[in-house]
Amino acid sequence: MEQPDVSELTPPQRTLMGPGPSDVHPRVLRAMSTPLVGHLDPAFVDIMDEVQELLRYTFQTDNDWTIPVSGTGSASMETAFANLTEPGDTVLVPGNGYFGERMASMVRRAGGEPVFVDAPWGEPLDPDDVAVAFDRHQPDLFGFVHAETSTGVLQPDVPELTTIAHEHDALVVADCVTSLGGVALRVDEWDVDVAYSGPQKCLSCPPGASPLTLSDAAVERVFDRETPVRSWYLDLTELGGYWGEERTYHHTAPITNVYALREALRLVAEEGIEQRWERHERVAGALRAGVESMGLELEPEPECWLPSLNAVRLPENVDDSAVIDHLLSVYDIEVASGLGDLAGEILRIGCMGYSARPTNVVSLLAALGDALEAQHVDVDARAGVGAAMERL
Ligand SMILES: Cc1ncc(COP(=O)(O)O)c(C=O)c1O
Repeated sequence: MEQPDVSELTPPQRTLMGPGPSDVHPRVLRAMSTPLVGHLDPAFVDIMDEVQELLRYTFQTDNDWTIPVSGTGSASMETAFANLTEPGDTVLVPGNGYFGERMASMVRRAGGEPVFVDAPWGEPLDPDDVAVAFDRHQPDLFGFVHAETSTGVLQPDVPELTTIAHEHDALVVADCVTSLGGVALRVDEWDVDVAYSGPQKCLSCPPGASPLTLSDAAVERVFDRETPVRSWYLDLTELGGYWGEERTYHHTAPITNVYALREALRLVAEEGIEQRWERHERVAGALRAGVESMGLELEPEPECWLPSLNAVRLPENVDDSAVIDHLLSVYDIEVASGLGDLAGEILRIGCMGYSARPTNVVSLLAALGDALEAQHVDVDARAGVGAAMERL
């Protein structure tokens, strides 16, 4: 076999304004180049404690069981559904975006039966519909997406949803992949039993160690299971040995990713969680004002606007991939197209973590104006940039 001859790694310098990953903070990149210690080294055990403490702050919870799951957001998501679904359980999931279907798929693999509560893509769930679905199906578990990355919709009324679920003795799982560290999320105050996230969105950290938190009631449900969790790797009763009191070997933690997450969470704590939510709202608000002043529309209604992911409706007959290619090839800016029911109709523009900065918003608006003009769309890019700068 011939020896491969591969050049040195020199990926392009992009500005990441898509649905994730977002730009990684330079301090996080530096943390990733620090030397490894063993995953059971006393120094690493201290680091694990610090990460857990920082995660509790970021989730706004006192939950003991607050850990980074090894793997991407789908790993923390599957940990939630695999541990809390027993064969034969009914699990209510949302039908208003891409990630509800992924929840359903995970529930089926865990032996449960998913049932859906629907709303059109681009709209949040209506608590009245959730209440009707509870009466009809009496689910054991209810999963919802706090920040739906496929549609740019924030689910408002979270305490109303958790109240309905608890009145029916069900536990609640919240997908907070695109909300943690970017938009208001109060796990304890809102009575969310399980929340999971990913680090590559509003935490501006590379993917690889994904936040998860469980209330005491949820932990009790896991330890009272009649059947073992079908996944060995994600079984919390096994993982508890490593992340709980004992700190015994389960699998080799992704040490560098844990370093990265620690630094990303330290940045959250330094900024202050509420100040961070406010920054996302201010910077994405400028993006929103800019897009609207250009003559384009933002998809969701203001009550469910998601600052971290902005769904911009494209004028008719505009080729979304040509716009996306133009932004990437001419300006090195990444944005993404719509998914599912919204494919071809929207652009998804992220404003997350270290990417949620005035400089990114202003350059994105100027570049977007140029990309649309290249598609013969009549937009006023100068008005867009001006409106954004006024807001900033
Ligand atoms: C809302 C939501 N849930 C789950 C996931 C899955 O995360 P990952 O792609 O990191 O596995 C994503 C990823 O974009 C997401 O946006």
